[in-house]
Amino acid sequence: MDVATAVYAQSVSIVGSISAPPRQETRGEVFTRRWVVDLILDLAGYTSDRDLAALRAVEPACGEGAFLGPMVERLSRSCRAFGRPISDSAHSLLAHDLFGDNVERTRTLVRLTLAKEGWDAADGGGLADQWVTHEDYLLNRPGYLGLFGRSDDGEADFVIGNPPYIRPEDVSYELYQKYRIACPTMLGRADVYVGFYEAALRSLRPRGSAPSFAPTAGCTTNMAEDFDR
Ligand SMILES: C[S@@+](CC[C@H](N)C(=O)[O-])C[C@H]1O[C@@H](n2cnc3c(N)ncnc32)[C@H](O)[C@@H]1O
Repeated sequence: MDVATAVYAQSVSIVGSISAPPRQETRGEVFTRRWVVDLILDLAGYTSDRDLAALRAVEPACGEGAFLGPMVERLSRSCRAFGRPISDSAHSLLAHDLFGDNVERTRTLVRLTLAKEGWDAADGGGLADQWVTHEDYLLNRPGYLGLFGRSDDGEADFVIGNPPYIRPEDVSYELYQKYRIACPTMLGRADVYVGFYEAALRSLRPRGSAPSFAPTAGCTTNMAEDFDR
């Protein structure tokens, strides 16, 4: 078992044993534990000894902010280390979530984290609203031009997060067709997370990094071939 698979299995089993309210099944929610988040951020090179305000990181499906909170801490410490105001990082983070309650929880977490880091409340509020967006990542990812055509121009140096795990039967037919147009590697009965991998890879800049979680049983041969291309 590789590191990513081990980490995924660990987080699923622990989160699953705490609680499994019904909404999680259709939202594909598995929130990530802090030590797993720190490991992934370190492996991705999202570390505060780098000038993170000069780079762009995307969290495709932020949930309650398990990744975004620690990312904001690292970005804040990087700004201090490089003598930048936090306002320099207005375009350095972008998080999406499909559900308004998750967006509001994550915005609150961002505000609290920036306040704890000693930044002005006015800066914190503005950045929280700008960084955390109430959008479907597959249809609004950076660089995607929707039904008018696909842009492969990379817009992100990092795409970091834990995608939703949603079976096709839990998505409306119309929405699933839009996902297939946006993400052609969603072949057969592909789970929605397959689209998240494709969208992340398409939106990366050269030398960008997109660590993710992968249930190995879900990686079909067809999908792997398309990713190779
Ligand atoms: C597995 S959870 C992970 C949340 C967070 N990244 C973490 O690691 O704790 C996936 C999240 O994806 C969100 N989601 C589902 N479909 C989405 C979509 N199409 N676009 C953006 N977010 C979506 C859900 O609200 C859910 O909170």
